[in-house]
Amino acid sequence: MQAYDLMRNRASTETLGTSEDGPSKVTPEVEALHSRCGVYTRTEVVCRILDAVGWRAEADLSRSRLLEPAAGDGAFVLEAARRLVGAFVRLGIALIARTLIGRITAFELHRGEAEKARSRVRRALRAAGAHHKTAEACAQAWITDGDFLLTDLPRDHFTHAVGNPPYVRWSKIPPDLKAEYEAQVPREMTGGDLFLPFLDQALESLRAEGQCGFLCSDRWRYMAFAEEFRVKWLPRLDIRSELSLSASDAFVADVDSYPTILIACKRQPAQTKPQGAQAKSGKTLADLGYVVKVGPALGHTPAYVLESNEADVEPQLLHAWIDGSEIREGALEWQGRRVVVMYGDDGQLIDPTEFPMLLARLERFRKPLERRSIVRDGAPWFRPIDRVFAAAWRRPKLLVPELAKIPRLTIDRSGAIPSHGVYAIFAPDDDVEPLYERLRDGALAKALDEIAPKVKGDYVRCYKRFLLMITLEN
Ligand SMILES: C[S@@+](CC[C@H](N)C(=O)[O-])C[C@H]1O[C@@H](n2cnc3c(N)ncnc32)[C@H](O)[C@@H]1O
Repeated sequence: MQAYDLMRNRASTETLGTSEDGPSKVTPEVEALHSRCGVYTRTEVVCRILDAVGWRAEADLSRSRLLEPAAGDGAFVLEAARRLVGAFVRLGIALIARTLIGRITAFELHRGEAEKARSRVRRALRAAGAHHKTAEACAQAWITDGDFLLTDLPRDHFTHAVGNPPYVRWSKIPPDLKAEYEAQVPREMTGGDLFLPFLDQALESLRAEGQCGFLCSDRWRYMAFAEEFRVKWLPRLDIRSELSLSASDAFVADVDSYPTILIACKRQPAQTKPQGAQAKSGKTLADLGYVVKVGPALGHTPAYVLESNEADVEPQLLHAWIDGSEIREGALEWQGRRVVVMYGDDGQLIDPTEFPMLLARLERFRKPLERRSIVRDGAPWFRPIDRVFAAAWRRPKLLVPELAKIPRLTIDRSGAIPSHGVYAIFAPDDDVEPLYERLRDGALAKALDEIAPKVKGDYVRCYKRFLLMITLEN
C-alpha cells in the first residue's frame, strides 16, 4: 500500500497531475510558482530541525510518521530517510516496504523536483542495503507529486511535521492556483502568504503531542493576515524555540529573507478547547455523530448555475441551488437558481456530448473553464472542481451560511445543493428537527459566540470545525 492511500484526496487525481494517460507536463503556473519559492534548505539546518523534533537514528522511529509538505528536491526527506534506516538497522527491523512505507509522506507540486527527491531517496536506501524494489516502492510512496494544499490529509495522524514551506505573497501566486486555493483552503488562511495554509494544514495533520519543526518566516507572529492563525494555534502549541538565522546560513541559494526555525509540540486537545466549551458538560455535535459538509466548489459558477430565467440545460440534470443570501432564520427563500449536476449517482462524470443543451451552454463558457488549473493539469475542461452529486444532498439537513453578522440556520428537506459558502449539518438518524429546535432563534449565534472568531466587519465565520464544536447541554 502506498502511503498516499492513507489519504482521501480532496482534489482529483487529475488535479494532482496524475491522469490515467500518464504523467502530465509541469504547467507554466507550477513552474512560475516553483521559481518564486524553490529555495532549498542547507543540510546542516535540516539536521538541526530533525534533531530538535526527535527524528533521530537513535530514536525508535518504528511507529513514527513524518510529514514534509513541500519537499523540493528532497533535503528533508533524504535526511529523514537516512535516519529512519539508521534507526531500523540499529533496532534490527527489516528494511522492507511493509515496515518503511508508512513512515514518511511528502508532497511536491513540481513533478521534476519530486522526481529528483525520489531519485536521491532511492540511492540512499540502496546504499543502506535495501532491495532495489523496496527503494523504488518507498521513493514512489513517500513523495507524491501533488498539491499539498488540495489534498485531504487525515487529521491527527503524523507524529512529526518538518520542512521549509513555500514563502510567496498571496498576490504573487499564479492566478489559477490562487483561485483554486481560494475555493478550497480555509478562507482565514488565505490572502496573506502561502506559507500560512501550509503551517495550518500540517498542524491539523499532526497528532496531539506530535512535534513540528519548520524553517519559515516569523511574520505569522505579528502580521494582520495571520491573526486567525494565531487565535487558532497559539493556544494549541507549546513553542519550544524560535531561532532566527541568516538567509545564507539557512538556504542553499542567496535570497533576501529572514527565516526562523520554529520548533513546537501540538498540545492535547483537552488543553485547547475554548474555556466556555470546556466548562460545559454536554456533548459536541461531533461527539453526537452529526456530520458537517460545505457545498461543492464549482470553479466557475456562471457556467454551472442557471439563473431563474434560464432554461438552456436538460431539466433532468438540474437541481435547486441555494446560497447564503437565501437562508433566513427558519426559512429558505429559494430564488429559483439551479445547478447542473455533472456526476451520476454512480460517481461517473457525465459526458456532455450526450446532452446537447448542456454542451452548448458549457461551450459558451469554454474559455474561462479551460483557464482553470485543474484543466491545465489534465481534468476535462467541463468538470467542476468538486464532484457534485445530487444523492449527497438529498437527506434532510440544516443549512448555515458560512459568513453572517448573526449566525442563522434553517431546515432543508428539498434536497437542494448548497453553494460553497454554505455549510450543511446532517443528523446521524436524519432527524434534524431536535437540533434545529436547540439552535433556532439566535441560539446558534450564542453557541458560536465563544467558539468562532469574528472577522473583519464583525462577521462570524461558521466553519465546519466550529459547528462541530457546538456543545449541547444535557
Ligand atoms: C521553499 S521550497 C522547500 C523545499 C525543501 N523542503 C527544502 O527545504 O529544501 C518549497 C517547495 O514547495 C513546493 N510547493 C509550492 N507549492 C506547493 C504545494 N501547493 N504543494 C506541494 N509543494 C508545493 C515548491 O515547488 C518548492 O519546491
